[in-house]
Amino acid sequence: MSGSPSSYSPRTSVGRWFDARMPLPRLMHDSFVSYPVPRNLNYAYTFGGILTLMLILQIATGVVLAMHYSASTATAFGSVEKIMRDVNSGWLLRYLHSNGASFFFIAVYLHIFRGLYYGSYKAPRELLWILGCIIYLLMMATGFMGYVLPWGQMSFWGATVITGFFTAIPLIGEWLQQLLLGGFAVDNPTLNRFFALHYLLPFMIAGVVVLHVWALHVTGQTNPTGIEVKHKTDTLPFTPYATVKDAFGMIIFLIVFAYFVFYIPNYLGHADNYVEADPLRTPAKIVPEWYFLPFYAILRAITFNIGPIDAKLGGVLAMFGAIAVLFFVPWLDTSRVRSAVYRPWYKLFFWLFAANAIFLGWLGAMPAEGIYIPMMQVSTFFYFAFFLIVMPLLGLIEKPRRIPNSITEAVLSPAASGKLNEAGRRTKDENLTRA
Ligand code: HEM
Repeated sequence: MSGSPSSYSPRTSVGRWFDARMPLPRLMHDSFVSYPVPRNLNYAYTFGGILTLMLILQIATGVVLAMHYSASTATAFGSVEKIMRDVNSGWLLRYLHSNGASFFFIAVYLHIFRGLYYGSYKAPRELLWILGCIIYLLMMATGFMGYVLPWGQMSFWGATVITGFFTAIPLIGEWLQQLLLGGFAVDNPTLNRFFALHYLLPFMIAGVVVLHVWALHVTGQTNPTGIEVKHKTDTLPFTPYATVKDAFGMIIFLIVFAYFVFYIPNYLGHADNYVEADPLRTPAKIVPEWYFLPFYAILRAITFNIGPIDAKLGGVLAMFGAIAVLFFVPWLDTSRVRSAVYRPWYKLFFWLFAANAIFLGWLGAMPAEGIYIPMMQVSTFFYFAFFLIVMPLLGLIEKPRRIPNSITEAVLSPAASGKLNEAGRRTKDENLTRA
């Protein structure tokens, strides 16, 4: 996978025997031991490893949970209660899995924002980025279906609201909704198919992650300067340098994760989901999981018809468009300079975009009424404007800062890269590039 000549030489006769027949240890060695990584990677580059860890954790806890879960509307809620009370360490498994989903999304959002900041999606890494977008889509489908399984009030009504939006799609909408539900309403067939798909999709994610990492090893990683590797001195071997840094990032991440699991396990959930689903009682407020909230705000921002497109369809198109636009980012960004470190205006807009995304998340939890509606509309406009106006235009008009000649120069000789400020101290960006 590494693309460079292999430096692996098995020391034992068993190792040589294996290597001649199936060189898996060689592949591992070349990909995760001797593989050269830029020497200036910072902690923003540890989220890929953290995501891999979280995926493994989700699959491991999910498979054991599935051994005790019962996918029927009559027994699902009770089986989850049984897991919490009667199954040995069942509470731990469930809290690891439910909080694990949230932390998986925290990590993926940080991973995506890192990509947007450092221009990781630019050529030749377009396919790597697109594979990431596919993973993200699969994660959303998995998260949505997983939330239905405990068969609480929010499971039921969340699924009812979201699948209801499919009917807005012309011609095939109703057919699609019935296909998803397995009938005309959220019921036993829905729960069964959601369980089957919720079990399947993580393995599909794992498959796409393999392609993602393969594509990464073909192009190599970027780094905070955005300059490609030119000299041998620009890189260090993956092990021990990146391994240790990734491990440290994982430990810090896991400490925060453990705090949620052991001290505030229901903080990110919704109290209504501890009440069994009741099709005859609609909760006062129906909100999806926090990681869908920005898209939920976009969905409800469109309250007006746009030509032949009615408001409901407009909302659905805007919501799917908000995800679809990510696939085109490599071509929307017209700048020749990769990293935001050298793009003062892009950097400003990036942080505005990040703040706006958080604001959209907050709006997603608010009711679609009164002042919240214009706020959702302005925020939705800025979301799309970032990708469709700022990215293409800024690349043409922005004057980037001077870029160092190489990674080595940026790391070892900040003065040569002209990036010392007047007082002779390192600028904040410089500290970033030093990592
Ligand atoms: C299960 C989810 C994912 C896993 C396990 C994963 C794994 C990884 C790993 C191990 C790396 C290398 C280390 C690093 O740069 O952090 C990486 C890099 C990358 N990932 Fe992901 N990833 C996931 C999701 C995504 C998503 C959703 C996107 C974008 C939409 C994405 C885009 C990228 C890009 C562009 C890079 C190259 C970064 C660079 O070299 O600048 N990934 N990923």
